[in-house]
Amino acid sequence: MTSMIIAIDGPSGAGKSTLGRMIAREFNLLYIDTGAMYRAVALAVTESGVSTSDRAAVAEVTGRAVINLRGDPDSLRVMLDGRDVSDEIRSERIGHTASVVSAIPEVRRELVRRQREMGARSGGVVLDGRDIGTVVFPAAAVKFFLTAVPEARAKRRYDEERVKAQEHTFEDTLADINARDRRDSTRADSPLAIAEDAVVIDTTELSIEDVFARMVDVIRDRQQAGGQNMSL
Ligand code: DC
Repeated sequence: MTSMIIAIDGPSGAGKSTLGRMIAREFNLLYIDTGAMYRAVALAVTESGVSTSDRAAVAEVTGRAVINLRGDPDSLRVMLDGRDVSDEIRSERIGHTASVVSAIPEVRRELVRRQREMGARSGGVVLDGRDIGTVVFPAAAVKFFLTAVPEARAKRRYDEERVKAQEHTFEDTLADINARDRRDSTRADSPLAIAEDAVVIDTTELSIEDVFARMVDVIRDRQQAGGQNMSL
């Protein structure tokens, strides 16, 4: 029996992490937020004072950074060198830097290696990111690509940020989403792309519960089709 690997890719604000957590809980799997790993690298680079254009130095900082994801899917904590950085890495500035450093091949190579190790050690895992189904685990049992029109993704992000009382207009958030889409989809190394065998779900008009129900159906169908070869 092989353990189940579920890949969830898509642009920012498509609902990947909320749904990744829900799927992990439903099927009792480990949840790995790979974006949080790129964000932790971004924080380490920022704190080290290294310029993001100095590839060699960024690669060195990445290699030294000890990143751990702790806890269950609902209370996942992101640890950098033993320090809880879960809240710090969610800032707009770190999100931007994460998008920049994630285009550096040495950074990707190192984090992909770690993600593969984490996946291999677990009894079954849900990973969300941009390149999970295409690069990290191309043989994943189930691949989802979640997307939504930029305005819908910006609205979700804007509503979340308003709760945290950040001073942004909707237009700022939309511009940020568009810039991030452009950078993540046009970089040379592992750009955001839809795996050939991914199940694409456009979440624009769907509630989280609707998307979750569709994903659960797909996974259960695959389990039945896979029979003895898939354990969950
Ligand atoms: O999902 P997120 O917004 O937390 O991701 C932060 C950045 O990291 C995002 O702009 C793109 C990058 N990323 C990536 O290149 N590959 C991944 N597997 C996950 C995230």
